[in-house]
Amino acid sequence: MIIQGLPRTVKQVIVPPIKCQGIKTKLVKFILSNISWNGKGRWIEPFLGSGAVLFNVQPERALLNDVNPHIIRLYQMIYDGSLSPEQVRLYLTTEGKKLLSNGEDHYYLIRECFNRTRNPLDFIFLNRSCFNGVMRFNSKGEFNVPFCRKPDRFRQSYITKIVNQISQVRRIMQGKEWVFFTGDWREVLSNVDVDDFVYLDPPYIGRHTDYYQEWSEDDAEDLARVVRNLPCGFALSMWKENKYRLNQHIEFYWNGLIERTFTHFYHVGSTENLRNSMEEALLIKHGYETVLIETTKSDKPIQLEFALHEQAG
Ligand SMILES: C[S@@+](CC[C@H](N)C(=O)[O-])C[C@H]1O[C@@H](n2cnc3c(N)ncnc32)[C@H](O)[C@@H]1O
Repeated sequence: MIIQGLPRTVKQVIVPPIKCQGIKTKLVKFILSNISWNGKGRWIEPFLGSGAVLFNVQPERALLNDVNPHIIRLYQMIYDGSLSPEQVRLYLTTEGKKLLSNGEDHYYLIRECFNRTRNPLDFIFLNRSCFNGVMRFNSKGEFNVPFCRKPDRFRQSYITKIVNQISQVRRIMQGKEWVFFTGDWREVLSNVDVDDFVYLDPPYIGRHTDYYQEWSEDDAEDLARVVRNLPCGFALSMWKENKYRLNQHIEFYWNGLIERTFTHFYHVGSTENLRNSMEEALLIKHGYETVLIETTKSDKPIQLEFALHEQAG
């Protein structure tokens, strides 16, 4: 068996077939180039979300968890072959045509159906045609995001894009020893070995959080306590600062770790110059961070960008 660990240079980021708030596609290169792990144990993600980080790490062995059962069911079915890319294409083509002729009524019909049957195909449909690609549920566990208001959402090219994303993650999963689990992060972290590596991306306190269940201050405190006592390496993603606020939780719960930061920009209006910046942090257990090498500008490796932001915690 070839043991592949980290850091990893990602040339082309793998984009997962589902979207969720806090998706790390834009941060994957930053995350994977800053973690040092020998790859001998399991890659553990207690807060899997879309799986953007996982699909770019592509570990041989993994333990993957989310409290949201729809995410886990979908990936489990792709993993064991009970949901194929061809089925998704057929379904999206049929339902996409109905959406085009019936408009939002059809979206809400699928939403109602999904909330009764939990069909993973409906889940993909809703995830890829809801407003802003967010995943939000009410207190009864019902998906409640409104329609994106584009009846022609499932054009042929869009369907092909989604189907290709499913085929790609299926190829990545093939032959790998991955275990999927639906539950609370506590259960997953109670069974961790020295060689494992845990990547944590919990919901952000103080920002929009209603993914599937509430994320409280108690959860955050508990998580920090449990994670600090893990026998293996770990890294945690957390927003650090934007124009308006500094995330106090980093100092409060996660001080003393290696801190690497990365600034990215997002648009707040239609014109190019209306941009806000957001600083994201990766907090890493000592000994599991990459060593940053100083190089000349002409020989600039990807890590130099991160070296500019680096601060030891
Ligand atoms: C910030 S998102 C993860 C995003 C992911 N890294 C990505 O790139 O798409 C946080 C995830 O934690 C899950 N979650 C929330 N509370 C949880 C809990 N108590 N235990 C396990 N997962 C939980 C949410 O359902 C959500 O998918």
